[in-house]
Amino acid sequence: MSENILEVSEATKVFGGLRAVNGVTFSVRRGEMLGIAGPNGSGKSTLFNLITSVPFGPTSGEIRFKGERVDRWPAHRIARAGLLRTFQKDAEFPDLSANETLAVCATYNAQLSRTAALEKAEAALATVKFGHGRSRLPSRYLSVYEKKQLMIASALVSDPALLMLDEPASGLTKPEIEQLDDLLVAINRSGVTVLLIEHVLSLLLSVSERLIVLNQGKVLAEGKPVDVVGNPEVITAYLGGRTS
Ligand SMILES: Nc1ncnc2c1ncn2[C@@H]1O[C@H](COP(=O)(O)OP(=O)(O)OP(=O)(O)O)[C@@H](O)[C@H]1O
Ligand SMILES: [Mg+2]
Repeated sequence: MSENILEVSEATKVFGGLRAVNGVTFSVRRGEMLGIAGPNGSGKSTLFNLITSVPFGPTSGEIRFKGERVDRWPAHRIARAGLLRTFQKDAEFPDLSANETLAVCATYNAQLSRTAALEKAEAALATVKFGHGRSRLPSRYLSVYEKKQLMIASALVSDPALLMLDEPASGLTKPEIEQLDDLLVAINRSGVTVLLIEHVLSLLLSVSERLIVLNQGKVLAEGKPVDVVGNPEVITAYLGGRTS
């Protein structure tokens, strides 16, 4: 069994004249928590899109998950193989409760019976420490943090081997970010490999074993978080040339 759960090789996504992701190569080790940073528009979300085929795969390049080429697979097949993602923009079903939402996700991705799906939903809600008495409310009444918990739980019900999170900390308060930090560490310790895009650097640096920085669709730097954030090219990319 390969040490790498995900191998991305020369992945490219072209929109008209724009190479949003341009020849990106990296791999993710089994069990690792890998962070992805980069300025706005650097191609982070597009990279997640083309890895998961939601909503599109790469223009060119290869994606291997658990050793198999998945870059021409439909999205549902990739998800059912254990590669799950969340989205930058919260998108709950406002009229469905957390329980119902998760049961739908489990039924779709893991193809479970209704009873088994509801059990999965309960387990995922417990993992994200969803508030007692909140899981039967229509989701439109949930707080920003509860919607994040629900989004993460909606991936957990499908038993991900690799969980990809796109800016889960956006819009959260400092204490909520600390809760999220604990949750991500717990999920990772339970055996789930995690790939995390995040602008909140305190969270990214706290949880990531390794960090990749994208800039203009390319990998600008990769390595230990402390080394990467001190890299002058990374500082320049973030500050637009103002390094002092
Ligand atoms: N569906 C699309 N059609 C055309 N251009 C797109 C599409 N999706 C993304 N882009 C462009 O690709 C580039 C990379 O966008 P992307 O959303 O991947 O950046 P990002 O690093 O996730 O940024 P942010 O930190 O703001 O979320 C941007 O220039 C964006 O406008
Ligand atoms: Mg993005």
